[in-house]
Amino acid sequence: MKNILVILGGGRPRGNTRQLVDAFVKGAVDAGHQTEVVSLNEKQVNGCIGCNACRFGKPCVQKDDFNSLIPAIKNADLIVFASPLYFWTLSSKIKAFIERFYCIAEEDDAPPLGRYEKYPVRDCALLMTSADDYFWTFEQAVSYYNFALVNYIGFHDRGMLLAGGCGDTNGKPQIDKTDYLEKAYKFGKTIYE
Ligand SMILES: Cc1cc2nc3c(=O)[nH]c(=O)nc-3n(C[C@H](O)[C@H](O)[C@H](O)COP(=O)(O)O)c2cc1C
Repeated sequence: MKNILVILGGGRPRGNTRQLVDAFVKGAVDAGHQTEVVSLNEKQVNGCIGCNACRFGKPCVQKDDFNSLIPAIKNADLIVFASPLYFWTLSSKIKAFIERFYCIAEEDDAPPLGRYEKYPVRDCALLMTSADDYFWTFEQAVSYYNFALVNYIGFHDRGMLLAGGCGDTNGKPQIDKTDYLEKAYKFGKTIYE
């Protein structure tokens, strides 16, 4: 049994991304995992302001909801980052959440090349939806995920599900007309097989 924390970075309340997350969670629960979904629509998590107070042993100066999420982050075996594709990358809400990992980094006496501190390393996965469905649609998002989360923070990648062609936000969510909900269920169910 794994402890899975899903961070939902915006999107409509019953939109494509929420549905993708729900299907993933259903699969994970059916496989016996414990899950928690945090919607950043319902939380206030600001981006880092770079004051560096945290580098002088002080807690983050921003008194927003990130602090209350730290125990869940530290207890999770797997953090799933879920986001609609906004302007060809992850939503600003997810990006703000990731920036705040800065204040939970710890000193590392011998960091590997290109890393400066130690982060609470977990497994990670990426769930995304978009309107377009070209071969380049998710390129920037995947690149950011690989560089920032996997290579830099050091998370262990458990995979990604990129649901292109879910319709734009002018209309109703269209993900139920694709096979991505089924794929998300299977992804959740088999992620630790
Ligand atoms: C502000 C904004 C920016 C978007 N940018 C893109 C984009 O760059 N590429 C794309 O394919 N779809 C884009 N979309 C469409 C959404 O990614 C797509 O409809 C997504 O499935 C919406 O998720 P939701 O139903 O969970 O809200 C954008 C939508 C919005 C509202």
